[in-house]
Amino acid sequence: MKFVTALLCLMLWAGSEVSARPPCNYPPTQWCSSYEIAAACQVEHQCLEFKPKRNADPVVISLFYESLCGACRNFLVLQLFPTWLMLNDIMNVTLIPYGNAMERNESGKWVFTCQHGEQECTGNMIETCVMEKLQDPFRYFPVIFCMESASDVIAAAQLCLKIYEPKVPWAEIENCVNGDLGNKLMHRNAELTDALRPPHEYVPWILVNGKHTDQLEAQAVESLFNLVCNTYTGTKPTACAKAEGKNSFPKCMI
Ligand SMILES: *[C@@H]1O[C@H](CO)[C@@H](O)[C@H](O)[C@H]1NC(C)=O
Ligand SMILES: *[C@@H]1O[C@H](CO)[C@@H](O)[C@H](O)[C@H]1NC(C)=O
Repeated sequence: MKFVTALLCLMLWAGSEVSARPPCNYPPTQWCSSYEIAAACQVEHQCLEFKPKRNADPVVISLFYESLCGACRNFLVLQLFPTWLMLNDIMNVTLIPYGNAMERNESGKWVFTCQHGEQECTGNMIETCVMEKLQDPFRYFPVIFCMESASDVIAAAQLCLKIYEPKVPWAEIENCVNGDLGNKLMHRNAELTDALRPPHEYVPWILVNGKHTDQLEAQAVESLFNLVCNTYTGTKPTACAKAEGKNSFPKCMI
């Protein structure tokens, strides 16, 4: 329900005229995939406008986060996902769920401890395994967004997978979560997080083109959309021009 509300707000914001739209049965990542779907969702206009030809390197946004941290969830749900929906042509997003977790080696197997407890470790692991299994951001990002925007991140996981990836059996994710693959992947997240220079001091810890400063972080949290538009060195997409003067997405989301 929250998801639908967020998208409605987003589209109202993105569209030039505010009008009630009939519900459409396609996930937002498919809205611009064909003219028929765009027409059914009444976004033909936006789809054309939001598809620029990229003529410079994409803006790389790396998010170091943990699945149950409130500020992380707010950033992912209110800034990162909506911005990526509109600007994915000029963005490259990397998600590293680990954050302030810790690991220790117990006879060759990594054991993780998370800031918000066991549940958070499970959430981090599910999201890591979802990324590994689906590979393509257009497939895994909606699942992760769905989880992070739900009231119970972990309880929502199975349903979120079912909604966006009905052909992927939950058992495949579970096997990864409980097996060596998940253990290895989470250790990799730990290594990537520990390799941060400067080391992270809080979460979410946001990198823009590989760089973190408190100022960049503040700009990203305030309006990632504007930050990406301003950082991109190529021809700006029309969506960027439209957003000028607006500070951020409307607060009606969530
Ligand atoms: C995004 O960045 C990753 C890591 O640097 C790289 O492997 C990938 O090819 C990039 N994707 C695009 C579309 O630029
Ligand atoms: C983890 O511990 C095992 C034995 O307890 C050891 O053989 C292995 O080298 C350790 N791995 C690392 C990366 O420290």
